[in-house]
Amino acid sequence: MPIQRGDQDICSFYETDAALGQYLLLHYGDKNDQMPYPFGPAGGVDFPVRCASDCLIQEELPSNPTALDLGCAVGRTSFELSRFCLQVTGVDYSSGFISVAREIQNEGSYQYMIKGEGILTEIRTAHLPKGASPDRVQFVCADAVDFAKRGQRFDAVLACNLICRLPAPRTFLMLLKDLVNAGGQLVLTSPYSWLEEYTPRPEWLGGNAEQGALNILQEILNRDFSLMRSFDMPFLIREHLRKYQWGVAQATIWKRKPIYI
Ligand SMILES: C[S@@+](CC[C@H](N)C(=O)[O-])C[C@H]1O[C@@H](n2cnc3c(N)ncnc32)[C@H](O)[C@@H]1O
Repeated sequence: MPIQRGDQDICSFYETDAALGQYLLLHYGDKNDQMPYPFGPAGGVDFPVRCASDCLIQEELPSNPTALDLGCAVGRTSFELSRFCLQVTGVDYSSGFISVAREIQNEGSYQYMIKGEGILTEIRTAHLPKGASPDRVQFVCADAVDFAKRGQRFDAVLACNLICRLPAPRTFLMLLKDLVNAGGQLVLTSPYSWLEEYTPRPEWLGGNAEQGALNILQEILNRDFSLMRSFDMPFLIREHLRKYQWGVAQATIWKRKPIYI
């Protein structure tokens, strides 16, 4: 069920065929399909792979870590996490995305369309990445805020390009302390692309003259987390052969402080 606010269905884009094609290409596509032009911003490809490989400090995780991938979409980051995590839970609100992620997990592949010029399309196949351990992954269709209230803790929690798609990002951020084990890591990435169709303006984190989003993240998270590092991550979403979204997410990596009960 999509989240309703008034008459507005705020998750509907992520249930469309257009979104499915874009996200399957973003997650599983060949680099040359993600960016076919030699003069294009090729550094933005494979964003979901880099969320797992470049953000966590693996040496500082406990052995056999557990991981949670909130807003997992069609699942690539979850499969990448399964290379070094014993159990991975991928959560997304889009039932379409979750059912395709499960099909890739169970069948090993999924056929989809990418858009060329006008109405032209081409068929591509998303494959389960070699070396991933799909048996370690569980996909759950749920709201991230509801999931965060379940009281289960993980060694690594990722929310990649999720917060600016939530109606109440502050509420979500305040729940994160209860999701991460002491010493565990939290990865947030966001281009802070605030849009009123997803997030009412009073809920936007920064984006005004007084404060940037990072200051607000620190205000909310500093009590329970230490900021380990922050850096910029380019990403690229192909809409069609001649139109792309190139964005720069800010990645912030946080370590959960000791938990005193
Ligand atoms: C911008 S996409 C990012 C997907 C993925 N993490 C990536 O980086 O490719 C946002 C994702 O969050 C999901 N989403 C939006 N609102 C959500 C919510 N309240 N709970 C869980 N997932 C949500 C969408 O369905 C979509 O898959």
